[in-house]
Amino acid sequence: MTTQPALIEPASWRDLNPLRHLEQVCFPLDSWPLLDLIGVLTFPGVIRLKAVTDNIMVGFIAGDIRDGKRLGWITTLCVLPEYQGRGIGGALLEACEKQIDAPTIRLNVRISNRAAIRLYRRYGYEQVSIWPGYYHDGEDAFILEKKIYRKGYNTDI
Ligand SMILES: CC(C)(COP(=O)(O)OP(=O)(O)OC[C@H]1O[C@@H](n2cnc3c(N)ncnc32)[C@H](O)[C@@H]1OP(=O)(O)O)[C@@H](O)C(=O)NCCC(=O)NCCS
Repeated sequence: MTTQPALIEPASWRDLNPLRHLEQVCFPLDSWPLLDLIGVLTFPGVIRLKAVTDNIMVGFIAGDIRDGKRLGWITTLCVLPEYQGRGIGGALLEACEKQIDAPTIRLNVRISNRAAIRLYRRYGYEQVSIWPGYYHDGEDAFILEKKIYRKGYNTDI
């Protein structure tokens, strides 16, 4: 495998097939149905970015802005297993945060997902809540939050 750095680029409906593959590999328990994948690649207002290396889409992140522009939400983040641990997840997260024009960003994560939780903590996310039994197999979700300090933001939510 090469060590070519990943490019972070906007994703589009043309990425449907590689995104399906990514989701199925990365989320064997929670992969999104086809309609949700089409939605995330086409709905207006969704931030959707892919990581490309070796001419392959190796990672994906999506986010949106809710609550009258006060709250950003990262809805999915995944990197193909053989490309993990090279900073691609972090690079996608950073790029998505830059495009979310909101003072607070949240996401949910399985409480057992230590790799993802470590990544999010490293990027300044802190636990603000638990949603008991949120996942279909009954696992709880941590809700993690990050305050974004940009000029003009009131970070109270
Ligand atoms: C969570 C996930 C997106 C992280 O992606 P990733 O590309 O591995 O993330 P990074 O490489 O940025 O960071 C992971 C680790 O690699 C390390 N790393 C970062 N850059 C590196 C580099 N250049 N060389 C070696 N290691 C590196 C980081 O320090 C980090 O180590 P740590 O976990 O021990 O702190 C990925 O594991 C994944 O897709 N998991 C399955 C889907 C999932 O659970 N998504 C989250 C749902 S909420």
